[in-house]
Amino acid sequence: MIKYNSEIIDEVRNSNNIIDIVSQYVILKRSGRNYSGLCPFHREKSPSFYVSPDKQIFHCFGCGEGGDVIGFIRKIENTSFKEAVEMLAERANIVLPVLVDTEKDEKIQKLKDKVYNINEIASEFYQKRLLTPNAKIAQEYVKKRKMDMYTLKTFGIGFAGNFDELYQELKNKQFSDEEILASKLVLKSEKTGKMYDAFRNRLMFTIRDIRDRVIAFGGRALDDSKPKYINSPDTVVYNKGRHLFAMNIAKKSGEKSIMLVEGYMDAISLHQRGVHNVVASLGTAMTEQQGRLLSNFEKIIIGYDSDSAGQGATARSLEILQTLKYDIRILQINGAKDPDEYIVKYGSGQMKKAMENAISLIEFKVKKLKETLNLDNVSDKIKFLNELSKILLKVENDLEKEVYIAKFSEQYNVSKEAIYAQLNKLQYSINQGSKILEKTNAIKRNPSKEKIENNEKDTNRENLIISLLLNNNKENFIKIKNAISINEFKSEKNKKIAEKLYEQFEKGNINNILDLFEDEEIINHITYIMSTDFDITDNEKAIEDILNKFEKEKILNRKSEILKKISSGNISKEELEKLENELKSLIVK
Ligand code: UTP
Ligand code: MN
Repeated sequence: MIKYNSEIIDEVRNSNNIIDIVSQYVILKRSGRNYSGLCPFHREKSPSFYVSPDKQIFHCFGCGEGGDVIGFIRKIENTSFKEAVEMLAERANIVLPVLVDTEKDEKIQKLKDKVYNINEIASEFYQKRLLTPNAKIAQEYVKKRKMDMYTLKTFGIGFAGNFDELYQELKNKQFSDEEILASKLVLKSEKTGKMYDAFRNRLMFTIRDIRDRVIAFGGRALDDSKPKYINSPDTVVYNKGRHLFAMNIAKKSGEKSIMLVEGYMDAISLHQRGVHNVVASLGTAMTEQQGRLLSNFEKIIIGYDSDSAGQGATARSLEILQTLKYDIRILQINGAKDPDEYIVKYGSGQMKKAMENAISLIEFKVKKLKETLNLDNVSDKIKFLNELSKILLKVENDLEKEVYIAKFSEQYNVSKEAIYAQLNKLQYSINQGSKILEKTNAIKRNPSKEKIENNEKDTNRENLIISLLLNNNKENFIKIKNAISINEFKSEKNKKIAEKLYEQFEKGNINNILDLFEDEEIINHITYIMSTDFDITDNEKAIEDILNKFEKEKILNRKSEILKKISSGNISKEELEKLENELKSLIVK
């Protein structure tokens, strides 16, 4: 990993107040000593996102994300640690030193810079190449797809010619073979050892990241040959699952909603015709990281192709987007197989209307259900009512439910009464069912429930201990450390945190706690603890109490262990005597 030294990181951190930084992304309100707002990392209606000016950390009690100001930038801008430090340094006018890290890290960073540079040059090269006389087929293709100058420029559309044209260009620009190969735009033949361009005879699309850097390319065949598209593989600067095509433009659209489409051509075609809140996931299954890129928009419209592949992709992407708690809509278009064809055929006005009328997940499910049934058929109608009720049951808001019922009743020509009746029947049978379940499980369930509560109690107490460790002076720290050994922590996370704190304490190294950890879950847990109010008024007393409790519990545990051993009868006389003595001494305590 490439890292600046800790002094400079401290300087960057100290020069960027977390409240100022977070305020650029989230509307914060003061609440007590802290600030709160709507979490930018998941969708929510009431604020559970807290920022502490004292501790200079943030934590969301809804989704669990947390960290310091650098962690915040990393998450919200989707950058590496190093990039986040660089962004914050720039903001605070801090000049960062050239990295004095291991040679290898420096080399990778240099290589990355070269590859960005190569990508930029390649994009320009392909674009110029498109205008040359022997790029006729590509020019005709561009004309056929009605791409205008804005589009060619905005999406860096170009033409990749023959053999090793790009390689020669890059050679002329003094790049080494190693750098050129790292871009993966040029390949080396295993047989002959010759270098040749990876993209040949294709229309090229330039892929940029959210910060406008050229990171990859897509190349479309100019006829029906297969594969239709070739895409850049992952490189030192490109990781497919982390980007969305055209996000660099869509983020400036100023719109509240954004549409996710499948193809380069869908995105390009809509942008050309004035619909700018569109990004493409490029045919692959959506990843969570891609999903997070959409978090600044209020509504996500899925506008995938209407063919079965598109429908499959819709389902998979829906899953990801649902876990991120977005307001999701699904585009419905008739008379065209994809958004590109639709806007070409019907114009941007119609397209925008279709986007406004995109249906909710509930409506989408009911529509899918209806497609498999014939409502003129009685048994199908019963099935429809039954499944429809199951879907409606999940709508929590009563008013919303009513609206849906009215809508579906009209749309599918079934009476509202029939829907209500079926819904009530279902609700009743579920209530009965859970009652029966409660009865039969009553005996079995209780102990495990108790156990869960116990675990929770343990964890809460451990969290309190960690919090005391974090907030206390040397003397108190040592007091706790001496009384509670690592192995006495039951939660894995707390154990790891305590271990690190004990170890680093010796080195006098616990100022920037979050820096000691790399595991995000642990960092989130620490910010959770740091943001939790444990209601401590008197530090000394809190420590005394908790250590007492711990001691008592230890004794109790030991007692029951001894009693168990004794009652097992499976021990020698000497051992029995020893245990009995120990027991006596414990009871005296
Ligand atoms: P489409 O076949 O819908 O492509 O695939 P498209 O972008 O709409 O292109 P046109 O309109 O047919 O010219 C959707 C996306 O899936 C990926 C590409 O990213 C494409 O944009 N894909 C498709 C590939 O990566 N390879 C392929 O062979 C086909
Ligand atoms: Mn298409």
